[in-house]
Amino acid sequence: MTQLLQQHFINTFKTEPVLYRSPGRINIIGEHTDYNGGFVLPAAIQQAAHIAISKRNDNALHLMAMDLNESIVLQLNDLQPIPHSWSNYIAGVVDQLLQQGKTLGGFNLILNSNIPIGAGLSSSAAIECVVAYALNDLFNCNLTSLALAQLSQQAEHHFAGVKCGLMDQFASMMSKKDQLIKLDCYSLQYEYIPFNIQNYSLVLFNSCVNHSLASSAYNERRQQCEQAVEWVSQSIPNIHSLRQVNEEMLNNIVLPKDSLVHKRSTYVVNEIQRVEAACNALQQGNISALGKLMFKTHEGLSIDYEVSCKELDVLVDAVKNIPEVIGARMMGGGFGGCTLNLIESSAVNKTIETVEKIYQQQFNSNLPHYIVETANGSSKIN
Ligand code: GLA
Repeated sequence: MTQLLQQHFINTFKTEPVLYRSPGRINIIGEHTDYNGGFVLPAAIQQAAHIAISKRNDNALHLMAMDLNESIVLQLNDLQPIPHSWSNYIAGVVDQLLQQGKTLGGFNLILNSNIPIGAGLSSSAAIECVVAYALNDLFNCNLTSLALAQLSQQAEHHFAGVKCGLMDQFASMMSKKDQLIKLDCYSLQYEYIPFNIQNYSLVLFNSCVNHSLASSAYNERRQQCEQAVEWVSQSIPNIHSLRQVNEEMLNNIVLPKDSLVHKRSTYVVNEIQRVEAACNALQQGNISALGKLMFKTHEGLSIDYEVSCKELDVLVDAVKNIPEVIGARMMGGGFGGCTLNLIESSAVNKTIETVEKIYQQQFNSNLPHYIVETANGSSKIN
């Protein structure tokens, strides 16, 4: 993949590029907790966004998306979001660096990614991160990995309009192979948790559902959580996020005001606890406890947070009675995308066949799957 990218770059721009990569991610547990100051437990995967890049002598950004066969030319001093354009993920990062007072120049860039789009694997965060990582290196911006993840998140807010948390960009930047990151999104402290699941595999089933309303519904969920925090903080001092809230507070203060906001925030408070429980299970090698927590998360996301959809629910139901499937749940923002399945390795093929059949029967649709492994975060490719 990188050789092809490099060759394409040389043919197009007649100069040698520098190559970088940033991966997509999975999240074992802790969904919709990041923007609530909770914990998440993500890891990068092998699938990644790659770029080839070289500096120019002017202020133009010559950008190409190799897989889409599209190109666009932007000017450094005139960057605006362009509705639905992949270039937003690049321009948004450039804009953030400029806002931080960094001195940049024009560049040629070709993007090539094998992260499925709209599958909940953070294909957009990977593009933001690879661009941030590359520009930081090329233009000597001297930013830390954390700062690069944070400015990539801001790019998503301002150029893609999704008020996402930090999980995706943090995982894409900081992951280590065979480890999960337990990130505390309140303090931004993190630790790596060894993840050697020798006899088990992680399989993603891609529902191929990609709702156009996903980003507005995501922003609405975030607002509902903020509303809950605001109400609780009116009665109890020093409450800044759902991280500091418990179910009793929600029952006493939020439920009388709005049952929907109560339902949403109760899911989040429980999910934050599930991440802690999942880490304990992992540390004790209790994989079946981890699996049960994953099923519970799906239930919460489907019934209380209401970010699942019929297809995702069918995919999780389809594996519930397969004894070798330890846990399964929808993953990422929701309204489509993938389910994450933790399966005994010996039963992976059988499970894939079974679930494919069910999906075909119910939705008359193919079901792409990916057997994923953890991977390192963003890097330069030598
Ligand atoms: C998307 C967002 C993340 C996170 C997840 C849900 O992937 O980008 O910040 O909120 O949804 O956990």
